[in-house]
Amino acid sequence: MTKKTIITLPGDGIGPEVTKVAVDVLKTACRAFDVQIETIERNFGGIGYEIDGEPVTEETIELCKKHNFVLLGAVGGPKWDNLTADKRPEAALLKLRKELGVYANLRPINVYPALAGASTLKEEVISGTNILIMRELTGGIYFGEPRFTAEENGDPYSVDTMRYSRSEVRRIARKAFDAARLRDKRVCSVDKANVLESSRMWRSSVVELAEEYPDVELTHMLVDNCAMQLIRNPKQFDVMVTGNLFGDILSDEAAMLTGSIGMLPSASLGDGNGLYEPVHGSAPDIAGEGIANPLAAVASAALLCRYSLDMEQAAKNIESSIETVLKEGYRTADLFSDEPGTTKAGTEQIARRLLEILEKAPTEDLQASEGP
Ligand code: NAD
Ligand code: IPM
Ligand code: MN
Repeated sequence: MTKKTIITLPGDGIGPEVTKVAVDVLKTACRAFDVQIETIERNFGGIGYEIDGEPVTEETIELCKKHNFVLLGAVGGPKWDNLTADKRPEAALLKLRKELGVYANLRPINVYPALAGASTLKEEVISGTNILIMRELTGGIYFGEPRFTAEENGDPYSVDTMRYSRSEVRRIARKAFDAARLRDKRVCSVDKANVLESSRMWRSSVVELAEEYPDVELTHMLVDNCAMQLIRNPKQFDVMVTGNLFGDILSDEAAMLTGSIGMLPSASLGDGNGLYEPVHGSAPDIAGEGIANPLAAVASAALLCRYSLDMEQAAKNIESSIETVLKEGYRTADLFSDEPGTTKAGTEQIARRLLEILEKAPTEDLQASEGP
């Protein structure tokens, strides 16, 4: 048995509910390949503030850096919305991303065939959609300086700074081009170059780097048009590369192509570290009810196997267990409609079924890694 240590940060709201499922699935999937997953859990976000007085401690940051691989639930909630910026649960997440140097946030949008009818969009528009959103995660307006609130003539105002350097854009664009080479060899770079200086820097840097990738088709799209095109014809996209803020917004929009934000996983990579978290938040409106969709967290555990543990078959087994559960008709409330052959299921029922399926999954490596 090989042993691997993962830091788990379940966080707030539905975070602990979905992280528990993801950890159980991860352990079961890896055990089949003689890999024992050991987890170290820490408070993070609002719960961290309550218990430790701060949303993340230095000890937790150091622990994550030491062990490299982190599985996170979600943070935040109305209870902590009026704290100062540095005490907010979200500040912990931003700090962790920055300290780990995980600048490349991969958000794969796969429409599972069983869910083609579950989206609010028409089946023929979304079925077969397979997009990889490559979101820049440690720069842009989330981190730019200066940022402050002041007052002018008795009128308070606030400033945030959107800043991108050539090197920051080149490194995320490189990730996008490399990923595209393993897919349909198309990259769409999304910006607001008709208005923003930082977007013009973004675009010229991507164009410059593209010279190294003559085999990959590069197109550019303005972010407002992109928001529309994602709904009009999502199948036109292969890899989409964009900045921190645009990627945040577009990925929540793209989530609805899959039927629910509860389906969207993410992997944040850089500096040899890997942070894995569902795209959704802490969903305070349904926390504690046992109805949260755990599949985004579970799919994030699959990405952890793929990108950090080099266990491609375990990743595939997890992904196919998700597919099977959906094919069998199990749906959490966010996905459930009166479609014949479907059953409304709670978080734990989905978890049990995933584990049963995984117990019978293939235990030999069937295929080599295909990458993102
Ligand atoms: P949210 O993603 O938490 O919820 C949006 C809607 O989607 C809600 O109706 C919720 O019930 C539903 N939903 C989300 N995940 C679901 C799941 N797994 N299963 C079923 N339904 C699900 O977004 P929000 O309401 O805007 O934010 C709530 C809090 O979460 C805020 O404090 C925000 O800052 C935080 N947040 C955290 C993260 C993160 O930790 N990565 C991400 C987004 C938002
Ligand atoms: C996400 C979230 C975070 C972000 C928040 C909670 C800081 O919305 O991961 O998409 O904006 O990056
Ligand atoms: Mn978001």
